[in-house]
Amino acid sequence: MCAPAPAPRDAPAWPLVLGIETSCDETACAVVDGTGTVRAEAVLSQLDEHAPFGGVVPEIAARSHLEHVDRLMTRVMTQAGATYGELDGVAATAGPGLIGGVMVGLMTAKAVALAHGKPLLAVNHLAAHALTARLTDTVPFPYLLLLVSGGHCQILVVEAVDRFRRLGTTIDDAAGEAFDKVAKMLGLGYPGGPAVERWAARGNAGRFAFPRPLKGRPGCDFSFSGLKTAVRQAAESLPPGPFAEADLADLAAGFQAALIDSLGDRLEHGLQAFTASHPEGRHLVVAGGVAANSALRAALLARAEAHGLALVAPPPRLCTDNAVMVAWAGIERLRQGLIDPLDVAPRPRWPLDPHAPPAGGTRPPAPPAGEAGTKA
Ligand code: KG4
Ligand code: ZN
Repeated sequence: MCAPAPAPRDAPAWPLVLGIETSCDETACAVVDGTGTVRAEAVLSQLDEHAPFGGVVPEIAARSHLEHVDRLMTRVMTQAGATYGELDGVAATAGPGLIGGVMVGLMTAKAVALAHGKPLLAVNHLAAHALTARLTDTVPFPYLLLLVSGGHCQILVVEAVDRFRRLGTTIDDAAGEAFDKVAKMLGLGYPGGPAVERWAARGNAGRFAFPRPLKGRPGCDFSFSGLKTAVRQAAESLPPGPFAEADLADLAAGFQAALIDSLGDRLEHGLQAFTASHPEGRHLVVAGGVAANSALRAALLARAEAHGLALVAPPPRLCTDNAVMVAWAGIERLRQGLIDPLDVAPRPRWPLDPHAPPAGGTRPPAPPAGEAGTKA
């Protein structure tokens, strides 16, 4: 029996792409078409498996992806009412991320691509976060992007599907990592961001005088380790024993306000640089798990408006890790003819802008020998 023919290239729904995401602690699959319609999606969080350890354990993550990815993929294909023969491409996160998990998703995509003769699209996880705003809001290039997730904190100019210019990155922790570490310190569990946000909502942000790291310094780089230490010291200064609810709320509120203030200060420099270098740009986009934070969104809205830009913040479920963004990045790549060979390698580190100077530095980068020197 012949496989059904894929939709013609000039059909609005072209291309139909299966996306697979396994780079951290979510196993996710999705089928998305060229109109941006999500035909089916599934996200399986491994939270319960990692929670006892207070963070993601790479070996547990990889095993869990292996155990679940086939079933999830079959489920989304069935829900989408699509056969593998009808796909126009198979996309998977090929990095950056925890290498064991990335291998599971990429190998699965390779197997489907090989068995059904479909193009393979090896997607950069950060690019998938970055391009989500084009799926949700058809944002044109160029745009300024604040990418804030558990592993990354960067300001980038997104110039094309595969062209990114990094203006700043973190010297130490990522914003989400800071949320997670503070949450752990306060006994709020993992992942920390949503818990800190909930406690912060009823706290007094002015009670503790937390620092705004790098505030006023030139450039767009970030640093959060000093803030984290200040929260620890404030927590240790409180009476021993379990935290009083009011103390917990005030610590969370003070930390969140300082982090958002610091992000805003660094972003201000990015906004100035972007509006000067790309006067045709009209959008500030925020992406990554921390973009789900509503206090951050409100602060960014004010910053964007002050520069005459529209803020685009995808819905929270598309800000945290998911496979819709991977399928969409695959669609964008396929449209540009950016197809990958079946022997493409998974990459634990994969910077979006390999020529960017290292965090905190302005010296020209070394010749692009692999991807050393950046925090992916
Ligand atoms: O993008 P993501 O799902 O995974 C990575 O690629 O890292 O981001 C996860 C991060 C975690 O650090 C989590 O604590 C943070 O996003 N996060 C939040 C919120 N929701 C998730 N941080 C602050 N406020 C939130 N509401
Ligand atoms: Zn992510």
